[in-house]
Amino acid sequence: MSAFKLLLLPGDGIGPEISAEAEKVLAFLETAGIAKFDIERGLVGGAAYDVHGVAISEGDMKLAQASDAVLLAAVGGPKWDGVPYDVRPEAGLLRLRKDLGLFANLRPAICYPALAEASSLKRELVDNLDIMIVRELTGGVYFGEPKEIIDLGNGQKRGVDTQVYETYEIERIGRVAFELARKRNNKVTSSEKANVMKSGLLWREVITALHKREYADVQLEHMLADALGMQLVRWPKQFDVIVTDNLFGDMLSDVASMLTGSLGMLPSASLGAADNKGQRKAMYEPVHGSAPDIAGKGIANPIAMIGSLGMAMRYSFNLPKAADAIEAAISAVLAQGMRTADIKGEAAQSVSTSEMGNAIVAQLKKLLA
Ligand code: IPM
Ligand code: MG
Repeated sequence: MSAFKLLLLPGDGIGPEISAEAEKVLAFLETAGIAKFDIERGLVGGAAYDVHGVAISEGDMKLAQASDAVLLAAVGGPKWDGVPYDVRPEAGLLRLRKDLGLFANLRPAICYPALAEASSLKRELVDNLDIMIVRELTGGVYFGEPKEIIDLGNGQKRGVDTQVYETYEIERIGRVAFELARKRNNKVTSSEKANVMKSGLLWREVITALHKREYADVQLEHMLADALGMQLVRWPKQFDVIVTDNLFGDMLSDVASMLTGSLGMLPSASLGAADNKGQRKAMYEPVHGSAPDIAGKGIANPIAMIGSLGMAMRYSFNLPKAADAIEAAISAVLAQGMRTADIKGEAAQSVSTSEMGNAIVAQLKKLLA
């Protein structure tokens, strides 16, 4: 049985509650003889700040570097609103992404038929929707320098962020998108604002050249990011793989999440470059945040977290059957009518976080028996 090193970072808010459900799935997979997981636990975000005074400690960064995959739940909350910018909870997440070199963020938006009613769009627009947003994650305005607030000395200040992309960064994220498209419906929509941004112009040039050189068999279209936002809510099924920069990808994936019924549904995988053994550094996390308003109540939806673990099975552990089973188990419990509060819709009642986790494990037992 293969053994994998997994670093679990529950973080803040609902993070610990949904992490506990992912751990039930891990425990089950071990009992079922699928794989062995050596789980280390660490702190990130506000939880790390409270103990170490930073958003992630050097010790936990070392564990992350040494693990086969990191599973992170969520960071942030009003409790840490006043902490210095450099050690705010989000800084822990951004450091993990940057230091592990996780440039490719895969955010699948899948609408399970059972949940079509929970979407803010009409059923026929979202039913069976399956799109993949590929977001560049270690560049762009998130990390570009200068990044500062300057006192101009005349009672005015200037806030500066820098949007910057180099050819290699665009090429490597483009490759991820084209490769994924080949295994799906063979279509890539590349998005930027080439009409107002130089970095967008370069993005379009580089993607076009890469396509011509190596991926001419894949259908490619370019769409300005504002138009893409509009098309996502007008006719989302026109898309297969969307590739875009860090900031546009952040926004568009939140939009896409509502197509699926709830932000509580969307998993994600963040991958680095493959080494000479084909191994990639990787982190898996729900797209949603720490939801401080419902933290501690036991009502959060654990599906995005468990789905993220499913993505780890596929992209880090080479256990596609386990990944398929996790997705099928989620689909089955939804079809049975199980709903947490965020996806309750017309359902008579909603279940708790742990009831949802238990139901998914029970389904997994049936599927992998
Ligand atoms: C996300 C989040 C993060 C981001 C925040 C928490 C820094 O919104 O993963 O989408 O902006 O990348
Ligand atoms: Mg976001």
